[in-house]
Amino acid sequence: MRIISFSLTILQLLLLSSFFSSIATSQDNFFKCLSSNNIGDDDLPKITYMQSNINYTNILQEYIRNGRFINTTNTPKPTLILTPFQESQVQAIVNCAKNVNLHLKIRSGGHDYEGLSYMCKAPFAILDMFNLRSIQVNMKDETAWVQAGSTLGELYHKIWENSKVHGFPSGVCPTVGVGGHISGGGYGTMIRKYGLSVDHVVDARIVVANGSILDRASMGEDLFWAIRGGGGASFGVVLSYKINLVPVPEIVTVFRVPRTLEQNAVDLVYRWQNIAPQLENELFIRVYIQTVNTTGNSKITLRTSFIAMYLGDSDKLVSIMNKKFPELGLKKEDCKEMSWIKSILFWGEFPDTAIESDLLSRKALVTSAFKMKSDYVKTPISRGDLGRIYQKLISSGNIWMAMNAYGGMMSEVADTETAFPHRVGNIYKIQYLTYWNETGPDSDKANIQSIRNFYDFMTPFVSKNPREAFLNYRDIDIGSTDNVGPNAYSEARVYGEKYFKGNFDRLVQVKTKVDPTNFFRNEQSIPVLIKN
Ligand SMILES: Cc1cc2nc3c(=O)[nH]c(=O)nc-3n(C[C@H](O)[C@H](O)[C@H](O)COP(=O)(O)OP(=O)(O)OC[C@H]3O[C@@H](n4cnc5c(N)ncnc54)[C@H](O)[C@@H]3O)c2cc1C
Ligand SMILES: *[C@@H]1O[C@H](CO)[C@@H](O)[C@H](O)[C@H]1NC(C)=O
Ligand SMILES: *[C@@H]1O[C@H](CO)[C@@H](O)[C@H](O)[C@H]1NC(C)=O
Ligand SMILES: *[C@@H]1O[C@H](CO)[C@@H](O)[C@H](O)[C@H]1NC(C)=O
Ligand SMILES: *[C@@H]1O[C@H](CO)[C@@H](O)[C@H](O)[C@H]1NC(C)=O
Ligand SMILES: *[C@@H]1O[C@H](CO)[C@@H](O)[C@H](O)[C@H]1NC(C)=O
Repeated sequence: MRIISFSLTILQLLLLSSFFSSIATSQDNFFKCLSSNNIGDDDLPKITYMQSNINYTNILQEYIRNGRFINTTNTPKPTLILTPFQESQVQAIVNCAKNVNLHLKIRSGGHDYEGLSYMCKAPFAILDMFNLRSIQVNMKDETAWVQAGSTLGELYHKIWENSKVHGFPSGVCPTVGVGGHISGGGYGTMIRKYGLSVDHVVDARIVVANGSILDRASMGEDLFWAIRGGGGASFGVVLSYKINLVPVPEIVTVFRVPRTLEQNAVDLVYRWQNIAPQLENELFIRVYIQTVNTTGNSKITLRTSFIAMYLGDSDKLVSIMNKKFPELGLKKEDCKEMSWIKSILFWGEFPDTAIESDLLSRKALVTSAFKMKSDYVKTPISRGDLGRIYQKLISSGNIWMAMNAYGGMMSEVADTETAFPHRVGNIYKIQYLTYWNETGPDSDKANIQSIRNFYDFMTPFVSKNPREAFLNYRDIDIGSTDNVGPNAYSEARVYGEKYFKGNFDRLVQVKTKVDPTNFFRNEQSIPVLIKN
C-alpha cells in the first residue's frame, strides 16, 4: 500500500515537474540523490513540497514574517521547500543540492527583514528548519542545547519549565527563530547585564558544504567564532547551539512611561542619552518614539515612551531612578513587578491576561509590511539636533525610532571576541521602523523612500566610516552582491564593513576555508577571497 502510494507520488512529481522543464531534470536528479542518501520512501514526501503540492503555499507563507512579501506575485517563489526533521536529512539535502547545483536558502523563523531566507531572483529551494526544534535543558550544568528551528518563545518557556531563576539574553519577539537570531548576534532587554546571545554560546552543530556535521571541537575556533555574530547562512546550516543559561531574580520590574512633547519628551531623551548607558548593568531603558494622531484635529504628534527592564524589585528601581534620572519623575505606581518569564510577555506587548504558554504560539504578532534600518550612536546628539530630529519625524509621518541603551557588558567584551563588532564606544543603537498595511508597488515604494530619506537625514548624528549597521536588522540598502563575477568581493566589502567592521576580513578567511565554492550564499553573504 505504502509502495503504491509512493510510486504515485513520484509519478505526480515527474508529471508536474514537466511544467517547468528547465528544472525538471535537475529536480528529478535531486530526488534520486536524496533516495540514495538514505531518505526513505516514507520520508521523502514528508520533507519535499513542490509548487504543485496543495500545502506548498501554506508552508511557504507560514514563516514569511514581513507583510511586504506575503501574497504578492512579485515575491519570487522557491521551486521546492524542504522540511527535514532529522539532522541526517539536512546532510542529504546539502549533499544533493550541491550535486545538482540547486541553490538553497536557509530559513529558521523567517524574520529576516528583507526576506533573504525565503526569496531569491535566481531559481532556488528553501531549506526550512521548523521541524528541527527540540530543546534540551540540563540544569546540572545550567546549559541547553537548542535546535535552530526553535523560536525564542519556546526557548524561554522551556527554561522556565526547568527553573524560575534562569533565563537567556535573547530578543523580545517570541516568534523569532533561534537559527537566524543567534547566528546574527541576538540581543534583548538583558543586554547591559549579559551582553548578546552569542556571548553565552558554548558549542554548536553545523552542516558544512561537504555535508559533514561539525561541532565546536571539529569545526575549530575560527568557524565557531564566525557563527557567533557573522550570520549562519554564509557558512552552513546551523543545526543547534549549546548555550549557558544566565541567572535571573525571581522578581524583575518593568515600566513603560509615555511622555508627550508638552511633557518635555525631547529634553528627557537628551538626558537619557547621557544617563542610560551609565546606569547599573541590571537596568536597561529603551526609548521608543512613535507617531500618533492627536485626538480631535488628527494632527500627527509623537509619543515618546521610556520602557525599562530591571533585574531587581521596584523599591530599588524607584530609588535608582530618583537619584540618577529624576527628570523622568518615575513613580512606584508606574512599575510592575513580575517573574522574568512574564516580563517576556510584557516586552512582547501581549495583553495583560496572557499566560506563559502563549509564548509557544507561532502565530505572527504583526502582519503589516515593514522596512527597518539601524544606526549606532557614539556621542550624544545635541539638544538642538534632537529637536530637529523630532520635527523631521513629524513631517515624515510614518517613521518610528527605538533607541536601545548600550554600555554595561557591551563595553566589556572586545570587538574581536565574537564576529559581532559593535561594542565599546557605542552609547546606543537606533532602530528605524516603518509599517504599512496597504501593500502594492506604489505604496511600498513610497514607504521605503520615506525611511531612506529619514536615514539620510540622520547621517551627521551617527557612526561614520563605516556607518555601522546591525546584521539582525537586515537592510539591503547598505549594499548587496549577486555573487558572480570579479566584483563580488568588492560589492560584499561595502556592506561587510558596516555589519562587521574589522571582523570582515577574518570572516572572509573563514568562509574561503570552509566553503571555497560559495555554495552557501545570499545577497549579503560573506564572499570567498579569490586570488588574482
Ligand atoms: C518582530 C521582530 C522582532 C525582532 N526583535 C529582535 C530583538 O529583540 N533582538 C534582535 O537581536 N533581533 C530581533 N529581530 C531580528 C531577528 O533577530 C533577525 O531577523 C533574525 O535573523 C531572525 O532569525 P529567524 O531565524 O527568525 O530568521 P530567518 O529569516 O529564518 O533567517 C535570518 C537569516 O539567518 C539565516 N539562517 C536562518 N536559520 C539558519 C540556520 N539554521 N543556519 C544558517 N543560517 C540560518 C537565513 O538564511 C537568513 O539569512 C526581530 C525581528 C522581528 C521581525
Ligand atoms: C497537507 O496538509 C494536511 C494537513 O496537515 C495533511 O493532512 C495532508 O496530508 C497534506 N497533504 C500533502 C499532499 O502533503
Ligand atoms: C494571504 O493570503 C492568504 C490566503 O489567501 C490569506 O489567508 C492571508 O490572510 C493573506 N495574508 C495577507 C497578509 O494578506
Ligand atoms: C492620522 O489621521 C489621519 C486622518 O484620520 C489619517 O489619514 C492618517 O493616516 C493618520 N496618521 C497616522 C500616522 O496614524
Ligand atoms: C495595520 O492593521 C492593524 C490591524 O488592523 C492595526 O493594528 C495597525 O495599527 C495597522 N498599522 C498601520 C501602520 O496602519
Ligand atoms: C568537511 O569540511 C570541513 C570544514 O572545512 C573539514 O574540517 C572536514 O575535514 C571535511 N570533511 C570531509 C569528509 O571532507
